[in-house]
Amino acid sequence: MRSKVTVVGAGATGGSTARRLAERGYADVVLVDIVEGFAAGKALDLNQGLTLGGHSPSMIGADGYDETAGSDICVITSGFPRQPGMSRDDLLLKNKAIVEEVTADLVNRSPDCTLIILTNPMDAMAQLAQSVSGFPRSRVIGQGGLLDTARYRAFISWELDVSPEDVSGFVLGGHGDTMVPVPSFTSVAGVPVNELIDTERMEAIIKRTAGGGGEIVGLLKKGSAFEAPGEAVAMMCDAILMDRKRLFPCAVMLEGEYGIRDTFVGVLVKLGAGGMEEVLELDLSESELAGLRSSADSVRELIDVMGI
Ligand code: APR
Repeated sequence: MRSKVTVVGAGATGGSTARRLAERGYADVVLVDIVEGFAAGKALDLNQGLTLGGHSPSMIGADGYDETAGSDICVITSGFPRQPGMSRDDLLLKNKAIVEEVTADLVNRSPDCTLIILTNPMDAMAQLAQSVSGFPRSRVIGQGGLLDTARYRAFISWELDVSPEDVSGFVLGGHGDTMVPVPSFTSVAGVPVNELIDTERMEAIIKRTAGGGGEIVGLLKKGSAFEAPGEAVAMMCDAILMDRKRLFPCAVMLEGEYGIRDTFVGVLVKLGAGGMEEVLELDLSESELAGLRSSADSVRELIDVMGI
């Protein structure tokens, strides 16, 4: 049976996500936006592009939520993106009201879905969605770590002039300035990265990774990254809908792992038919563990501001 995926927010990120999902062909995609006609217009354009690309033009665009009923996965991208000079945290209160309302509308009609959250500040918004939905932690997952990891892998592959396919590693922590790239678990075709890149260059790569979203915002000047985030979500949907048991860094509610409790933060998890099936608790170096905990503290501050 075909799956059903709803994407809320038909803007830059929602549109890129919906296109990638529709191209994969395994799910019916419903796109929703609050601006009247916007999702319908976007879906028409995307359907026509899908037709040219040899795919099935079966996307639906809607102003409301009735069409979303029975979704297997609901992706939330609705909300304001950053502008130059803003941090993700600056979006907190504006996007809180949006994510609160959208989550309630979605879970009313798709009580068994898995929620994937992109709206920033993502970790805090994922925690909000979990609180509003009352879902178990296996079914509320924030997208951020996979995107940060894509940037990290790209920078390493450019540094060494090798294929990114051979670069394996991940970025943990909150999806913000405090994120924690993890060199101790990074390798290139099995060779530890510290044997290939010296400490000074690695520090530069780590710094560029942490500022990777801001670098793009500064260049685009009219919003934030949307292509790589769309691909990251599509990969997460692949893993869940096809039970692929992929190990991805994602924001999930921690329940004591790494000494962190009741806070969403990015860690390595297994994604499969059960949603987030397992948190992998790794033996991080002292400084990486301290970085992860301090990143979780930053997320906690935002959660406290929201009072949830
Ligand atoms: N319900 C549905 N859609 C909404 C709502 C709502 N309550 N509020 C806003 N939207 C829609 C807007 O109408 C817009 O079409 O969300 C869409 C957001 O699209 P963009 O402005 O293009 O923003 P985008 O770049 O996609 O970023 C969206 O994802 O990565 C994060 O930081 C980013 O928080 C931002 C979010």
